[in-house]
Amino acid sequence: MAQLWGGRFTKETDWKVYHFNASIGFDKRLLNEDIEGSIAHVTMLAKQQILTETERDQIISGLRGILDDTLSGKLTIDEDTYEDVHSFVEAHLIDRIGDAGKKLHTGRSRNDQVALDMKLYTRKQVKEVDGLIKELLLVILQTMEDNLETYMPGFTHLQKAQPITLAHHFGAYLEMFTRDRSRLSDIYERMNYCPLGAGALAGTTYPLDREYSAQLMDFQGPTLNSMDSVADRDYLIEFLAALSTIMMHLSRFSEEIIIWNSNEYQFVEIDDAYSTGSSIMPQKKNPDIAELVRGKTGRVYGALVSLLTTMKGLPLAYNKDMQEDKEVAFDAFDTVKDCLELFTGMLRTMKFKKDRMEKSAMNGFTNATDAADYLVGKGVPFRDAHGIIGRLVLYCIEKNTSIDALSLKELKEISPVFEEDIYDAVSLKTCVEKRLTIGAPGPDAMKEVIAFHKARLQ
Ligand code: ARG
Repeated sequence: MAQLWGGRFTKETDWKVYHFNASIGFDKRLLNEDIEGSIAHVTMLAKQQILTETERDQIISGLRGILDDTLSGKLTIDEDTYEDVHSFVEAHLIDRIGDAGKKLHTGRSRNDQVALDMKLYTRKQVKEVDGLIKELLLVILQTMEDNLETYMPGFTHLQKAQPITLAHHFGAYLEMFTRDRSRLSDIYERMNYCPLGAGALAGTTYPLDREYSAQLMDFQGPTLNSMDSVADRDYLIEFLAALSTIMMHLSRFSEEIIIWNSNEYQFVEIDDAYSTGSSIMPQKKNPDIAELVRGKTGRVYGALVSLLTTMKGLPLAYNKDMQEDKEVAFDAFDTVKDCLELFTGMLRTMKFKKDRMEKSAMNGFTNATDAADYLVGKGVPFRDAHGIIGRLVLYCIEKNTSIDALSLKELKEISPVFEEDIYDAVSLKTCVEKRLTIGAPGPDAMKEVIAFHKARLQ
């Protein structure tokens, strides 16, 4: 145990207490950010003449040495000796450069330090997740361009409803993930203020230049209340909420792929590289990646609820409870990034069985609404048309056939309004092509949407 705060204590910390209290096991991930923050801090201290330029240079080269040696494996992070990453860095700095190292923590507390480290780390994660969603959007967009006329049934209640295209179905996810990116960009903007200089809770008596520190680390500016600066984890909560929404979207998409990949549907075939087999049933090829993405959604929601619960009763300002933000957040970051990457790969390599999709759209009366609209076009009031087509569907079910397979004579027996042009009116192609308001599956409407997204993505 090498602690930063032994002075006022007369006894060693109990070993079990030490480990219960320590965060080094997980906050060692923040090494890069801890050192980046310390370099900015001493750069500012020297500019304000709180440190000399020589001290600043010694500290910076000492910090860089610690980072390089840790990354190369020359220096290992000893979890039985240091309470957290901040103590690890400071102790080694003093070891390496002596007295100048003892000045690193001037005008700073671990409270603003950890708030900064976590913000720097999270800010990078926001960018990374955004980049991964962009990759996914590009795959979705490509699939859309390739499938403007791949007909399939659209569902409500998981019952065939109206014909759409694969492009249109994927277009729904394009919108969802585009909104996810816009949420990330809002979060980035709101969180991008620097807490360094808040001290333990009440600022410091040193003439720090907080604007300058913020500028050195590409923040928009300094945070404006030192109590809030060390006590705020809203940005993490917002990010976890956005990650939960991303997972919810991925999970719905996964669920559909699992259904589409089933023996009953066979709309898609997941590539061998993204499927696994069974130890007992030789015929099996399971959609495990999609299932795991769906399954892992729970732990990301868990992280959000966990942090919300941790924060809900905390008095201002810093409380050790807040150390609990890290493990759940890190797990959520890793999980979402893995899921996005693997899901995108699975989608990119997935084969669409267009003939199966089209055949499925042709039965199940997905053209029943269009048949009713046909009658409306001939002057029948919609409610009457609805009743006529309902009877027609019942007739087809009894005869195990479809609307377009009936003879004109059979159709006329149900309503004399039917003419030869009914067959064209209820063909899949017509049903889809006639839907040309913006947002609908008609290929011309879809092309406009695709062009809009393409321009935004570039
Ligand atoms: N490991 C701590 C955390 O993650 C660092 C801050 C410690 N500050 C303190 N006053 N004990 O929150």
